[in-house]
Amino acid sequence: MRTTYRFCVSTPEMSLADKVSLGSGADFWSTESVGSVAKMIMTDGPHGIRRQTGASDHLGLAGSEPATCFPPAVGLGQSWDVDLTRRVGEALGREARALDADVLLGPGVNIKRDPRCGRNFEYFSEDPVVSGILGAAWVNGLQSAGVGASLKHFALNNAEHDRMRSSSDVDLRPMREIYLHAFSHVVRTASPWTVMCSYNRINGELASQNRWLLTELLRDEWGFDGVVVSDWGAVADRVAAVAAGLDLEMPGRSDTNAPIVAAVEAGTLDEVAVDRAASNMAALAARVVDGRAEAVAPDLEAHHSLAREVAARCIVLLKNDGGLLPLSPDRSIAVIGPFAQTPRYQGGGSSHVNPTRLDVPLDEIRFHARTVTYNRGFTTDGSEIEPQSSAVAAASAADVAVVFLGLGEGQESEGFDRDDIEVPQDQLELLTAIVGVQPNTVVVLAHGGVLRLAPVADAAPAILDGALLGQAGGAAIADVLFGVVNPSARLTETVPIRLQDCPSYLNFPGENSHVRYGEGIFVGYRGYDARDLPVTYPFGHGLSYSTFEYSDLVVASHESGIIAHVTVTNTGDRSGREIVQFYTSKLDSVIARPPRELKGFAATEVLEPGSAEQLSVSINRADLAYWETRTDGWIVEGGSYEVSAGASSRDIRVTSSADVEGDAVDIAFTADTTVGEALRDPAAAKALGILGLSLGTDDDALGMDTARMMADIPLGRLKAFGMGQDEIDAIIARGGFIGSGSGG
Ligand code: BGC
Repeated sequence: MRTTYRFCVSTPEMSLADKVSLGSGADFWSTESVGSVAKMIMTDGPHGIRRQTGASDHLGLAGSEPATCFPPAVGLGQSWDVDLTRRVGEALGREARALDADVLLGPGVNIKRDPRCGRNFEYFSEDPVVSGILGAAWVNGLQSAGVGASLKHFALNNAEHDRMRSSSDVDLRPMREIYLHAFSHVVRTASPWTVMCSYNRINGELASQNRWLLTELLRDEWGFDGVVVSDWGAVADRVAAVAAGLDLEMPGRSDTNAPIVAAVEAGTLDEVAVDRAASNMAALAARVVDGRAEAVAPDLEAHHSLAREVAARCIVLLKNDGGLLPLSPDRSIAVIGPFAQTPRYQGGGSSHVNPTRLDVPLDEIRFHARTVTYNRGFTTDGSEIEPQSSAVAAASAADVAVVFLGLGEGQESEGFDRDDIEVPQDQLELLTAIVGVQPNTVVVLAHGGVLRLAPVADAAPAILDGALLGQAGGAAIADVLFGVVNPSARLTETVPIRLQDCPSYLNFPGENSHVRYGEGIFVGYRGYDARDLPVTYPFGHGLSYSTFEYSDLVVASHESGIIAHVTVTNTGDRSGREIVQFYTSKLDSVIARPPRELKGFAATEVLEPGSAEQLSVSINRADLAYWETRTDGWIVEGGSYEVSAGASSRDIRVTSSADVEGDAVDIAFTADTTVGEALRDPAAAKALGILGLSLGTDDDALGMDTARMMADIPLGRLKAFGMGQDEIDAIIARGGFIGSGSGG
């Protein structure tokens, strides 16, 4: 649904008090109904509907109505599957409608800046392109069912520690290129009905009071036409927030209306801001009323099947030495670990969903295989269990051990960050003991945030990473273990060898309520790759039971960007699908860049052995641009770009290149312009040449590279080196522009 509602609803006939009351909720989940503006109900997810009809809270404490629990974003992201994500959104929309919810509070597209962030399970990736594309697909699906999305948490909310106070201190380039990219993509391509502003400060200013963020960027630059709603309790000063661009404060508070009315009457708040907010609320209500008419009763059985299909597409095969997987049903299997019986399938906090049913991995394994034993082996809540040796004995007696490891619900959650990324020590000790007696050991992982997997990878020959898989994860794990589904998922985060290697390591979680984003644009794989650090598993990694060959990469540049085509052939002996990642590199760049940046991705259909498919990706010109801080604008650097197709950021299969026309960087000369910069302008170079200055030589009687030294001298200082002030002024006054280096 793409109806434009902006300015279609006028509210001048409303009293000031009525308009103001529209801007604060009626209670915890619903908005006020005023005149013809309908009451609307908002609810959490986002990976299921957390509709509370009894007690309300935003911490996941009170219960909610049953709803299908799909894989949270940490799992869903690993599918890299746009169509599937759209289908999940649509199913969520149908269930939301059936539960009378008008707006579902998601998706979360914040960047996973540091693996310790307690809420990473609710976000898609460390990469903005993956987050943006999947976030947009999710919104499109949801809103096609007549339910609004709430794109969150806008913005720079990349840690839970001190989240209601802390300032994310970040430079403009990383802010634009990394942290705002996904928000911008979703707003521009999927038009979410609402955007939720976050709790934190951004460079000192609360997001809820940040006029640049909520108005100049979101509305004026990106064209957002919906409602800006606060995160629950994020508003400190509603007058300042409304002036900045906030439309709706949640949960509702009866005490904040009077100060708004008083501020308008006193002339300290322009009534235009109140009109805007009321009009946006009325426009949202009109969308909602239309949406209600689109209700289609959800088929919960079909949604469970969809949840299973999706979950299987989210499981990453990290390792499979000797082709241990898939398992034959004839082998005897020792299943070990409490997550096999009590699965860990979603995160803790406001997104906690009450599932319609729950597939238990152990039962699903028993469904496939004839001889299955089970031992808990460890606990995650500190409770006592039978001695570990019984699990080891069972592993030894079986043909294969399948060991479920990971983090329990209490070990990670919204509301706090982790101190480390360790797999609990008792689990590692158990694994070592099991592998000591059973070489055929498969590890199945459940966790919301990245774990340090080096010790697991050293010990176990096969690893499946489920992250969090939702209510049908148990069946999906069995489907992958026994080869009913050939895995195709890929990591959306790097698994480092050590926490200390993370680009954000020294700047997390900050101190005195400030977090310095000191790694700049070098977030995730961009940082590991730039420092050439070995990792346990790179961004984008994921194996299949088959093998795929990439060939015939053809790259063509045109006015609006680059198009790349690559042929993928299934060279193995099983049918399967392959996800191809497209990266660009600019080796001769005049600005700081990571070695490669993801620009798009595509998946084949299920390919039979020996068959091939051509995949294509369009990289828009805008996607090639970097944020030029000197002009405050996007610039495409001209010249040659390498375009690669790969199976991870470290497994590049084929590379080609394309020439791209650059944008000029229009910066007029000043006294601060350097000789080197001025010499790039032909007219200025000529004038400087006449005055005896050129950088054409680097030999000097003193043995110094004078050319390089001179290049860094500002024009205004040339007087100290013997040039006349008039001549300097003339060069500056006649003008000139600093080019983009290789573009223009
Ligand atoms: C969370 C939001 C959530 C809201 C309502 C907040 O604590 O940050 O993501 O939608 O509560 O439960």
